[in-house]
Amino acid sequence: MDITEIKKSALTEIEKAKSAEELEKIRIFYLGRQDGKLTAVLRSLKDLPIGKRREIGPKAQALKRELENFLEEKLKKFQVPSSKLQVDLTAPGKRFRRGHLHPLTLVDREIRRIFLSMNFSVVEGPEVETEYYNFDALNIPPNHPAREAWDTFWIKRNPNLRIHPNDPNKKLRGIRINSDFSDRLLLRTHTSPVQIRYMEKHTPPFQIIAPGRCFRYEATDISHETNFYQVEGLMVGKNITLSNFKFVIEEFLKRFFSGQKIEFRYRSGYFPFVEPGVEVDIKFKGKWLEVIPAGMVHPRVFEYAHYNPHDWQGFAFGAGLNRLAMIKYNIPDIRLFNSGDLRFIHQF
Ligand code: PHE
Repeated sequence: MDITEIKKSALTEIEKAKSAEELEKIRIFYLGRQDGKLTAVLRSLKDLPIGKRREIGPKAQALKRELENFLEEKLKKFQVPSSKLQVDLTAPGKRFRRGHLHPLTLVDREIRRIFLSMNFSVVEGPEVETEYYNFDALNIPPNHPAREAWDTFWIKRNPNLRIHPNDPNKKLRGIRINSDFSDRLLLRTHTSPVQIRYMEKHTPPFQIIAPGRCFRYEATDISHETNFYQVEGLMVGKNITLSNFKFVIEEFLKRFFSGQKIEFRYRSGYFPFVEPGVEVDIKFKGKWLEVIPAGMVHPRVFEYAHYNPHDWQGFAFGAGLNRLAMIKYNIPDIRLFNSGDLRFIHQF
């Protein structure tokens, strides 16, 4: 086939083509890489004498371009414009997975909201504590049997890291250099150390809550976890009494369990850092659950914080956040909170 023949037949064939597939066949027949007719002509150019090459070369190139353009133009006629593409409205949709807030986050936010509205401030303290703040300053000296109530994760301190003997705060912190306690590190077993940290830096009257994570080295069951949350509360001022505590906590319970019927009771309890000590129990699944241990701040604790216990009184409480969440959302097992099970989280 010479170039004129190619041109004639290719153009008529393209003109007559009735589908994209036909066009593709035509393209391959003339322009295909392997053995397209026009491709063959173009390939043979190099073997032609120079004169012929000058004559045929440009014509073959021009024809190639012409055919390509024509093919492309014609192809457009067979393509369905996207605006006319059909949509299958009966096809099942794709489900979106929404993120959910963890129930502890929900409860934490709610508690902050309620106490802020009662003029409490929200403060925080470290999860890695010293033995001084977690125990000693809370009137729980070493070897005190009450320490057994808090099974502790101790942290090995780098023996090369010593607190400087001239640290101006060392007396305040109760750190005894070269002794084997007080500056030992641990994971806080409760949020009560935040009471001391706050009092060291502030003068009464004030009222604060301190929500945070706590750790206990103990066996787990449906109401105990090694890792749980508490909200510490502390109100210090003149003539604060247990009835102030009762008012605040009952107001809190009423708002937190808004509408939900709960049964609660006060019971006496013992904690070295309060006197007297009380427990607020709430009925859950037919059993009394200790939810808010509390009491009047012990004079010794005020002394540790350099307050004169004759000038100031206060109440403190350490509400169990997980347990409050369990009762509010009817969660049967405390271990579900840390299970990482999305089927659990997706219910909130
Ligand atoms: N810190 C105590 C605990 O975790 C609870 C508590 C706080 C009790 C404040 C009295 C006052 O066991």
